[in-house]
Amino acid sequence: MIIAVDGPTASGKGTVAKHLAARYGLKLLDTGTLYRAVGLAVLDVGGDPADEAAALAAAQALNLAAIDQDRIRSSAAGAAASKVAAQPAVRAALLKAQRDFAADPAGVVLDGRDIGTIICPDADVKLFVTASLEARTTRRLAELQARGETLDFETLKTQIQERDARDMGRTDAPLRQAPDAHLLDTTELNVEEAAEAASRIVDAARR
Ligand code: DC
Repeated sequence: MIIAVDGPTASGKGTVAKHLAARYGLKLLDTGTLYRAVGLAVLDVGGDPADEAAALAAAQALNLAAIDQDRIRSSAAGAAASKVAAQPAVRAALLKAQRDFAADPAGVVLDGRDIGTIICPDADVKLFVTASLEARTTRRLAELQARGETLDFETLKTQIQERDARDMGRTDAPLRQAPDAHLLDTTELNVEEAAEAASRIVDAARR
């Protein structure tokens, strides 16, 4: 079974994907970690994530096993990720690793922006997870504050809007709901409710 989970930043898609992987005993790949790791690698050498040569070199050199799962969660890494992710050469360089992961016969959950549209267009179940901009800003703010980052609500909200515009507006693999994806709006749901709602969608789709 392949489950594809897509959606904008802080929509709850990562939480939903984790829950589904645990519930159905599937392997999980958060594909945002790949773009974040590439963005961070460029920043670490003092480069500009919008510089195509620098971003491609970082994508080609990416070692999945060596990704620093803590440092890639910073807001700087997230913004850099969105810039490298807009570049077709970077996306092409990261495609094989994602398709190889999806080919695991044990069954998988992948979450990202283009899983249902590009990476796994034949996924057994597709979810498109959304939430209001206010709800997403509130959640991301709590995450960043827990990391010790201090940002005010309005600044973060603007950053998320900019990120949405980049992710949805790029020409290569823009964020969009696949025609056969189930929409899950988590604005009014807590973690448990979102996980439950996602399970109901998957159970119904498998029947
Ligand atoms: O889901 P996230 O916030 O960790 O993703 C970080 C950035 O990576 C996001 O702005 C867009 C990009 N991304 C992408 O373009 N395609 C994916 N499949 C996953 C993430």
